[in-house]
Amino acid sequence: MVDSQNIPRHVAIIMDGNGRWAKQKGFPRTYGHKVGTENVRKIVKYCSKRGIEYLTVYAFSTENFKRPADEVGALMKLLVEYFNKETQELKENGVRLNVIGDISTFSPVVQEAIQNGIEKTKDCTKLIFTIALAYGARAELVRAFKNMIADSVQDITEEIVSKYLYTFDLPDPDLIIRTSGEERLSNFLLYQAAYSEFYFTNVHWPDFDENEFEKALEEFARRIRRFGGV
Ligand code: FPP
Repeated sequence: MVDSQNIPRHVAIIMDGNGRWAKQKGFPRTYGHKVGTENVRKIVKYCSKRGIEYLTVYAFSTENFKRPADEVGALMKLLVEYFNKETQELKENGVRLNVIGDISTFSPVVQEAIQNGIEKTKDCTKLIFTIALAYGARAELVRAFKNMIADSVQDITEEIVSKYLYTFDLPDPDLIIRTSGEERLSNFLLYQAAYSEFYFTNVHWPDFDENEFEKALEEFARRIRRFGGV
C-alpha cells in the first residue's frame, strides 16, 4: 500500500466503459450506468479513507447530450437519485459536493437536486468531490475568455486564466485516471492537465474497485514529477 506521503492531492477520473461492461454481461447500457453510479459511491469513500483531498469525476460531457434520449434520461435520473440519496451521508463524512460545467442546460428538477447537494455540503472540507456535468474543456476556456473580456482584464496571466475556469478553487489534478482502454482526454480539464500524470487501465468503470484504484496510486508513486525542470 502506498504511504500517505506519496498520495496525490487531486485525482481526476474519466469513468469510461459502463456501456461495454453492461453489454458484455447481456444487460442494457443503462444498467451499466446504474452500477457505475454505485461505484462512484465506493470510490468516494475510498478516496476519503486514503486521504485524497480532491476527487473530480467526468460524469457527463457536453457531447453526451448526443446520446439517445432514453440513455440521457436514465443518466439524469441516476444523478438526481445520487444527489438526493447521498448528500446526507456525504455531509456526515465531510465531503463537499462541487460541480463544474454548465448545468443550466439541465432540467429544473436536476438542477435543483444538484444545488441542494452543493448547498447542504458547502462547509465540508475533508474531501472536495467535484462532478463534471455538461462539461467540456474547450467550452470552459471560451467562457473564461468571454468573462475576462467582460471584466476588462488587462494583463492576462496563467494564474488569471486559472481563476476564470470552473476549477478556480481546485488545485490542478496530480493524477488523471481513465478506465476502459481508451487513452485520450476527451475534452476533460485540458488546461488543468498540463503536468498531470496519466493512468490508463482496460478495466471498465463498474469494475474499477479499491484494488484497481490502489494500483493507480502505486503507479503514481513510482513516477518522478519534474514539472519541466531537471
Ligand atoms: C462512460 O461510459 C460513462 C458515462 C458517459 C457516464 C458516467 C456516469 C456515471 C457513472 C453515473 C453518474 C455519476 C455520478 C457522479 C452520480 P460509456 O457509456 O461511455 O461506456 P462505453 O464507452 O462502454 O459505451
